[in-house]
Amino acid sequence: MNVAVIGAQWGDEGKGKIVDLLTPHFSVVARYQGGHNAGHTVLVGGTKFVLHLMPSGILHPGVSCVIGNGVVVDPEALFEEIATLAQYGIEVGDRLAISDKAHVILPYHRDLDLLSEARRGDRKIGTTSRGIGPAYEDKIGRRGIRVGDLADPSAFAEQVRENVMARNRLVGDSALEWQPLFERMVTYGERMRPWVKDVSLFLAQVQAEGRSILFEGAQGTFLDIDHGTYPFVTSSNSTAGGVCTGLGVGPRSIGSVLGVAKAYTTRVGGGPLPTELSGPMADRLREAGQEYGASTGRPRRCGWYDAVAVRYAARVNGLDAIALTKMDVLDGLPHIDVCTSYRCGDRTLTEFPGNVLQLAACRPVYERLPGWSKPTGGVRSYGELPAEARSYIARLEELSGVPVGIISTGSDRDETIFREESVAAAWLGQKA
Ligand code: GDP
Ligand code: IMO
Ligand code: MG
Repeated sequence: MNVAVIGAQWGDEGKGKIVDLLTPHFSVVARYQGGHNAGHTVLVGGTKFVLHLMPSGILHPGVSCVIGNGVVVDPEALFEEIATLAQYGIEVGDRLAISDKAHVILPYHRDLDLLSEARRGDRKIGTTSRGIGPAYEDKIGRRGIRVGDLADPSAFAEQVRENVMARNRLVGDSALEWQPLFERMVTYGERMRPWVKDVSLFLAQVQAEGRSILFEGAQGTFLDIDHGTYPFVTSSNSTAGGVCTGLGVGPRSIGSVLGVAKAYTTRVGGGPLPTELSGPMADRLREAGQEYGASTGRPRRCGWYDAVAVRYAARVNGLDAIALTKMDVLDGLPHIDVCTSYRCGDRTLTEFPGNVLQLAACRPVYERLPGWSKPTGGVRSYGELPAEARSYIARLEELSGVPVGIISTGSDRDETIFREESVAAAWLGQKA
């Protein structure tokens, strides 16, 4: 069965850890959107890997990794990541497939990202400055350059020239010369050529052979361009719908959808976060959870678990189960608040509002649950969790309407609980 792993909050839920953990039961791990704005951390036996563009399955030898057409690829970042992996003895070899239809991030996209942020003043998105938005703008504007184009220099030279001229007009200088850039892209194109494929066809063949695919989402539901807290979002569809358009697979290819959610909430960048905390409790969560961006190092904004938000994520993604991560970060708290609805003026909202101004005006309504004193850190069986931790999980299940199938109690692969009755346990039995 093919499974999609999707962020159920604002990104950084621990998707990398969960994807890495599930990978041995799949043949292929496929990214369908985003780019190197993602930072997916995988901790293996004390060694920390942060994957940006490369699917988090790459650490398992024999597993193929796919970068779909919905991803934006910065060749420089790609080769840097491949070189870093090689330092740890992880060879990409012929295990990588990159869609010929994936769009390329060029250096002018980074310049335009910075410019656009500077112009927004106090309405900044707080992007990762990786050129993600401008690359997707060029894609939608039908002036983008695709990985497949790099194979035929004559076909994209004119486009690079036009795009660079447009960049120079906007930035107000003529600092970027198109020709050296064009030549660099041609070289990258040659280096990437062995990996460039018709990914849709490749995935159809994988499925025809009865092998399974793990779809790896980047960012999270509330950073989705359509279903997130627009305009404070990324520029792609990180929700489950993106799997089909971002890889060229039909909806029936998605056998099951796993949402990853932290046992609390974080966000990095601008935009409303209804349960955001300030003061000592925010600091406590940030330090205990080491909530600093895996890509940019920025401190993450922290708050309590928002069940209104996760219930919305369950709906727009069709979640079958949740992987609840970072339970251990809540260890030792006397009590834990969970947001069950919003108060907006004189109204109580139980559904996540689609409008960001309305969301910004919402105040969380909390239910207070008891904390636990016995640590959950590193616990590997459900029965060993303190009773209050089990009650906490049960209440989150009730509130979000989705069963918690996987519980993560630490960063390492092994610090995980699979609940036997969950759909997730069944995936462990399947052969790759
Ligand atoms: P992703 O972007 O969704 O893959 O998540 P990130 O890698 O950006 O952030 C998650 C962080 O939490 C990483 O540093 C992980 O190593 C860490 N992590 C994942 N699961 C757990 C857990 O259960 N407990 C703790 N303490 N850390 C975790
Ligand atoms: P992973 O996959 C958390 C946020 C940025 C900014 C907004 C737009 O590790 O969960 P962009 O550079 O994409 O144009 O920035 O989205 N953002 C993320 N936040 N985790 C991520 O990825 C993110 N990728 C982008 O902080 O608010
Ligand atoms: Mg991350």
